[in-house]
Amino acid sequence: MLHLLLPAVLAVQAMAEMQLRVPEQPVVALYDQDATLNCSFSHPNVFNLSDLSIFWQLTDTKRNVHTYSEGHDLLVDQAERFANRTSLFPTQLKLGNVSLLLSKVVVADEGSYTCFVKVQDYGRAALFLQVAAPYTKPVLTLEPESNLRPGDKVALTCAAYRGYPAGVVVWQDGSGRNLTENVTLSLVANEEGLFTMTSVLTVTLEPNSTYSCQLINPLLGEEGYASVTITGQNIAFPPVALWVTVGLAVCLLVLLVALAAVCRRKIKESCEEARREAEEAKELNEDESETGVEAR
Ligand SMILES: *[C@@H]1O[C@H](CO)[C@@H](O)[C@H](O)[C@H]1NC(C)=O
Ligand SMILES: *[C@@H]1O[C@H](CO)[C@@H](O)[C@H](O)[C@H]1NC(C)=O
Ligand SMILES: *[C@@H]1O[C@H](CO)[C@@H](O)[C@H](O)[C@H]1NC(C)=O
Ligand SMILES: *[C@@H]1O[C@H](CO)[C@@H](O)[C@H](O)[C@H]1NC(C)=O
Ligand SMILES: *[C@@H]1O[C@H](CO)[C@@H](O)[C@H](O)[C@H]1NC(C)=O
Ligand SMILES: *[C@@H]1O[C@H](CO)[C@@H](O)[C@H](O)[C@H]1NC(C)=O
Ligand SMILES: *[C@@H]1O[C@H](CO)[C@@H](O)[C@H](O)[C@H]1NC(C)=O
Repeated sequence: MLHLLLPAVLAVQAMAEMQLRVPEQPVVALYDQDATLNCSFSHPNVFNLSDLSIFWQLTDTKRNVHTYSEGHDLLVDQAERFANRTSLFPTQLKLGNVSLLLSKVVVADEGSYTCFVKVQDYGRAALFLQVAAPYTKPVLTLEPESNLRPGDKVALTCAAYRGYPAGVVVWQDGSGRNLTENVTLSLVANEEGLFTMTSVLTVTLEPNSTYSCQLINPLLGEEGYASVTITGQNIAFPPVALWVTVGLAVCLLVLLVALAAVCRRKIKESCEEARREAEEAKELNEDESETGVEAR
């Protein structure tokens, strides 16, 4: 019935066109929050609310979002996904404010909305609703995670969840160099239309290096930042240092063995010397006693 009513209203050529005010820039609404779609007009004389008709429609499909006629809401024709989610501001109507309050915004609400108004005159205007959802803080992971050696290829993965719309991931190293060249980005939407963003950067590992990823939401701006610094702790002994260490260990071992041998010889010598001295002493004693015996 309302489908027929609207063209009928607009077909009345005798009516003057009336200017409606709507936002020129897209209205950014946060996911799961309420949004006000502004639409207003100025009318020279006081009018009777029962003479006011308001039609909010989806511009592309002409589906009915909210209708007001003859002093009350008329929602029989309303598209099902807007059920219980729309309202006008009743006290504002007589001031020419026919804005629509849309509650619990979802990604599917994004699009163009047309506001039709008829008092004695009529007017129409369209506005665009954009949905934004902040991403979770990005998480940076390394693959492989351990036994890293300089020169290894490492995949750095930066992931963030449940955001909208598609974001941009910027990679940098410790000195601020843009590494965004060698990156693969994947976007997966869940059933609510929110994205999981995964950006993978492959680098050739250098010791003591920092990598960071920064997430930018085109509607909400800079959203989050994660960084990882790969220090000696993550890195296994580099080959050169390993050989130096092994070499040093071998030298030390040889030195110890040599020292032990020298010591043993020295001990042996001193032992023999001691024994020799003892024997000499004994011989001397024996000689003395013999002498003594002889003396008796
Ligand atoms: C709606 O209009 C009012 C008054 O002009 C303004 O303060 C407000 O920012 C507008 N809201 C949006 C979402 O455009
Ligand atoms: C219309 O009224 C609502 C509720 O008071 C207000 O938030 C909105 O800014 C008004 N819009 C305009 C264009 O005045
Ligand atoms: C508004 O219109 C209704 C129905 O046409 C009428 O009964 C009512 O008296 C009018 N009110 C004013 C203030 O004109
Ligand atoms: C809207 O609200 C009414 C009354 O609270 C309820 O019976 C109906 O199921 C709701 N519809 C939706 C789509 O939530
Ligand atoms: C991207 O990869 C190519 C080939 O692997 C390499 O030559 C180039 O330096 C890399 N660019 C950056 C910014 O790392
Ligand atoms: C980094 O490089 C990428 C690809 O070359 C480019 O798209 C992006 O705009 C650059 N970002 C900055 C902040 O320079
Ligand atoms: C690692 O790099 C930072 C800055 O580039 C420097 O200050 C620090 O001394 C370096 N550490 C090692 C162990 O090389």
